[in-house]
Amino acid sequence: MATTKLLVLALSSIALGTSIHTGHKNHAIDPNDFIHVDGLRLKDSKGLHYLTGLNYWACMNLAAPASLGGNITRLTTELDQMAAKGVNHLRIMASSEGAPTRQPFRMNPALLEAPGRYNEELFQGLDICLAEMGKRGMRATMTLGNQWQWSGGFAQFVSWAQNNTAIPYPESWNITAPPQRTTPNTGWGAYTVQGVDAHSYGDFIDFSNLIYSNKQAEQWYKDHIAAVTSRRNTVTGRLYTEDATIMTWQLANEPQAQAAIGYEGPYNLYLKANPADLLFPWVERTSAYIRSLAPKQLISVGLESKQGEYYFKKVHNFTTVDYATTHCWVQNWGIYQMDDSSEAGLKKAQDFAVAFLTNSSRWARDIGKPVFLEEFGMARDNWLNKDKEYPYLSSATTTHKDAYFETVISTAVSLFQTNGSYIGTSPWAYGGVWRPESQHVNEFGMVWAGDPPHESPGWYDLYDTDEAMNIVGRQAEKVRRWIARYGGRE
Ligand SMILES: *[C@@H]1O[C@H](CO)[C@@H](O)[C@H](O)[C@H]1NC(C)=O
Ligand SMILES: *[C@@H]1O[C@H](CO)[C@@H](O)[C@H](O)[C@H]1NC(C)=O
Ligand SMILES: *[C@@H]1O[C@H](CO)[C@@H](O)[C@H](O)[C@H]1NC(C)=O
Ligand SMILES: *[C@@H]1O[C@H](CO)[C@@H](O)[C@H](O)[C@H]1NC(C)=O
Ligand SMILES: *[C@@H]1O[C@H](CO)[C@@H](O)[C@H](O)[C@H]1NC(C)=O
Ligand SMILES: *[C@@H]1O[C@H](CO)[C@@H](O)[C@H](O)[C@H]1NC(C)=O
Repeated sequence: MATTKLLVLALSSIALGTSIHTGHKNHAIDPNDFIHVDGLRLKDSKGLHYLTGLNYWACMNLAAPASLGGNITRLTTELDQMAAKGVNHLRIMASSEGAPTRQPFRMNPALLEAPGRYNEELFQGLDICLAEMGKRGMRATMTLGNQWQWSGGFAQFVSWAQNNTAIPYPESWNITAPPQRTTPNTGWGAYTVQGVDAHSYGDFIDFSNLIYSNKQAEQWYKDHIAAVTSRRNTVTGRLYTEDATIMTWQLANEPQAQAAIGYEGPYNLYLKANPADLLFPWVERTSAYIRSLAPKQLISVGLESKQGEYYFKKVHNFTTVDYATTHCWVQNWGIYQMDDSSEAGLKKAQDFAVAFLTNSSRWARDIGKPVFLEEFGMARDNWLNKDKEYPYLSSATTTHKDAYFETVISTAVSLFQTNGSYIGTSPWAYGGVWRPESQHVNEFGMVWAGDPPHESPGWYDLYDTDEAMNIVGRQAEKVRRWIARYGGRE
């Protein structure tokens, strides 16, 4: 009988001590085994915990029903693929905000359709995502907001709070704009602006940053934090706050300085000290609020830390921020060009990353906290795509990307193994089985590439067959062996 068969299957998977999903190396998360910070390290009940992470921001949407544009087959396939490489941490969105009008460059459908109004089926997607992660030994960073337009984010809260004022969007990817392929709904698209005039990123950031001072926008953002932290998972029956699968609540993706007063340091990245920046009190009161709701879990800010030493220390020094974060974006920050095939171009990127990691490791030590490199990426060898129909074809090789990944990942690992503050790395972003060549825009306008909807799909994607995933896998294995040998010593 079917029931007996099911029971036998269930028993044998318990006996094996791992989930019945094939081929992965991680043990299921014990929902009571919360990660904690010990000095410059993370620990679970067994000892040192190193984060072999990946960004997988669309998890809740992929886990949603097909009628909402989800694809559970793809989700479980990709989670298995990542687990097989020893990935034990995913940074995912636990928020996305809708609008009265649809934009082509925002996660769609959104979790929060209007203040106080949730898409419950999509929320259940987040439940499924967490349950499936837990089975495969993956913990989550839950990102609660966004400086950028691709999930609605701060700008949407500000717009709602100002009577739906138009958001001054910067150029964003429009997948239905020309050039289009002959088969409908297969892309390509271009950077355009939907429904409004093109604004600069500066204008957009200033608008989004009103979240730091607009009381109503902040209240609705805090209401979301309350709603998601107090949720009970409909799959596991656990309260989110009682589930160790959730390692971290993160204030937002890449909150920016509110009152930059000029640059200093390399590449015009680092900001001069401005103690009056409203970013700081916002981090303090928001992190304190999360702590009051979720005392067993960790809190991070989501800062890129391209703002340099002063902002890094000021943002991360609050007692309610458990560890620091860094993001490292050599192309976006003007240090690397993806159509430059030269060794010198690559070396410049590697040198910058090593210096940025070494310096931020020291800044973190100065304030006595660990630091997690939770975003970095590099394009494929796109000089090979220069004269092709699309500049981000997956057929391009990845020689620069692989060399860069080796450098970044091994630098973080060696800082972890010596006396640095790094506790893990998390590349941007897992595209898994998706490819630009075979993409199909769904009825919600989405393709769910690793690149978010406001950027060209395929730019930073990590595919299941990419060498980068083997680099991630080898690093995971190396750290696992190292922890088994030295992990009890600290
Ligand atoms: C779901 O994803 C799988 C790949 O895992 C793909 O073969 C299938 O076509 C997708 N289904 C839809 C409806 O897109
Ligand atoms: C909000 O916008 C609507 C429609 O544009 C307008 O009728 C209304 O007066 C506005 N309310 C406020 C408080 O500005
Ligand atoms: C996106 O492209 C479609 C198709 O060209 C167009 O209808 C829409 O207005 C575009 N959005 C823009 C230009 O921002
Ligand atoms: C961090 O906070 C501690 C304790 O409040 C304080 O003594 C220290 O000066 C702060 N460091 C920085 C860089 O702000
Ligand atoms: C790292 O720190 C050194 C010494 O302070 C400085 O010269 C260099 O510009 C810094 N580089 C980065 C990328 O932070
Ligand atoms: C420990 O850290 C200090 C300061 O960052 C550095 O100078 C020293 O070389 C490090 N020692 C080891 C063994 O890594």
